[in-house]
Amino acid sequence: MPATPTNPLRVGLRQERVISPQCLVIFGASGDLTHRKLIPALFELFRQRRLPSEFAVLGCARRPWSDEEFRQRMEEALAEEVKQHKSAWQQFASCLFYEPVDLQSDDDVVRLGTRLEAIDRLKATRSNRTFYLSVSPAFYGSGSRALAKAGLLADPSRSRLVIEKPFGTDYSSAQQLNRVVLGCGQEQQIFRIDHYLGKETVQNILVLRFANAIFEPIWNRNYIANVQITAAETVGVEERAGYYETSGALRDMVQNHLTQMLALTAMEAPGHFDPESMRNEKAKVLQAARLANEVEPWKCCVRGQYSRGGSHAKPMPGYREEPGVNPNSTTETYVAMKLFIDNWRWQGVPFYLRTGKRLPKRLSEVVLTFRKAPVQLFDAAGGSPTANQLVLRIQPDEGAGFVFDVKAPGSGMRSRPVDMHFSYDESFGEPSDEGYVRLLADAMLGDPTLFTRSDEVEAAWRLYTPLLELIEDAPSQLPVHNYEAGTWGPSAADNLLADDGLMWRRP
Ligand code: BG6
Repeated sequence: MPATPTNPLRVGLRQERVISPQCLVIFGASGDLTHRKLIPALFELFRQRRLPSEFAVLGCARRPWSDEEFRQRMEEALAEEVKQHKSAWQQFASCLFYEPVDLQSDDDVVRLGTRLEAIDRLKATRSNRTFYLSVSPAFYGSGSRALAKAGLLADPSRSRLVIEKPFGTDYSSAQQLNRVVLGCGQEQQIFRIDHYLGKETVQNILVLRFANAIFEPIWNRNYIANVQITAAETVGVEERAGYYETSGALRDMVQNHLTQMLALTAMEAPGHFDPESMRNEKAKVLQAARLANEVEPWKCCVRGQYSRGGSHAKPMPGYREEPGVNPNSTTETYVAMKLFIDNWRWQGVPFYLRTGKRLPKRLSEVVLTFRKAPVQLFDAAGGSPTANQLVLRIQPDEGAGFVFDVKAPGSGMRSRPVDMHFSYDESFGEPSDEGYVRLLADAMLGDPTLFTRSDEVEAAWRLYTPLLELIEDAPSQLPVHNYEAGTWGPSAADNLLADDGLMWRRP
């Protein structure tokens, strides 16, 4: 039996994963993301001893804070963790620095350069820098230019630029932004972040598919009847109306998180698990994807918006009543759609995507429904035979399930579906790291595998262009249907599947 081919060099490189001396520079350090996600993720890396001893974080924003004030604010924001790990926090906090910087001001950027040199001397960070743009997306282009102009992106082996989502607001703005950032640095320096790719269970789509020989032969149009990808949230728009009103669910969730789950589910196996082989396959499958009806796109997409709902004890406001939302807003908080992928593997297999806020459950999953058995030998307990389903549970209750028929107990030969269940929690017993822990470490390691390449992000926007154009030019053709907060979205979304004789999975 021939040995399974591995590339020893590649395996060695991937296992080493040691972060070099490093200064992580966060622009937008006074914002939400910094204290909610980035600093907690860095503290976690610190406690796991995965950061080098020569390490610093430089927070930058316009507020005139001092180092001490920045440390204090982060400590308050992470009060729970700090209480549990007091001495670790004290050591970690001594790596936190702050510099008031407005990236639009040349003087500020010059001062930033000087401060970075001082940090290099103090912490021996050797000019290795990861710049994290957690600012308003309107400043991604100008922020990148300011860093490049100051020479801070000049050395591709020492400087990296992480850019938060959304990367552009449509196909042409994404192309334009790509032109700008690629004029400032090389593709290998640019890390377009999508935090879904940091989730263990999203990465597990790849491992499940490509580490197990049983799945690949049946992972195609001959065996799979349809695929459903869901990202359901119970929260509403929260305090983010300013951003969300111009974004909506299509831009906020579908173009990035759902599309990434689609790409990993549908891509071909890469030759190697290296960044470019992986990203080539993802880009290719997205380039082959299209709306189920490109001529009449309104027929394959449903938009919804939550209205007032909940119970007497726990009332939930409608979207239009949320703080900062236009009372006549037509922004969608729910989207469902049908796509096809025009390639040999997937021709004719519908991919249904749905996401929404204020749904009854927080849940993200990918469900592959297989074709039914060609001959029905047994009576099915529920009346009709069930199709096998592979359910990849992204969150919560991370894991996977497989639904198949067994003999129902008792006399006779009736079949009944059962669920075989794998749970990360039960099998591994420890919670997975937050997505940002993995992604921040990878960015500092210079490993772009789990980041979106320029062609990929453009392909993702291109896919939804007919819908975005319709919303812009003829919104009445793609109206927002009401759904009561706390329900599974508008009935029009059910019709989208009913037309194909199907139903959304009700988890
Ligand atoms: C963000 C969106 O990217 O993802 C939010 O902007 C959304 O609107 C969030 O709530 C969902 O992420 P998660 O990890 O909670 O599923």
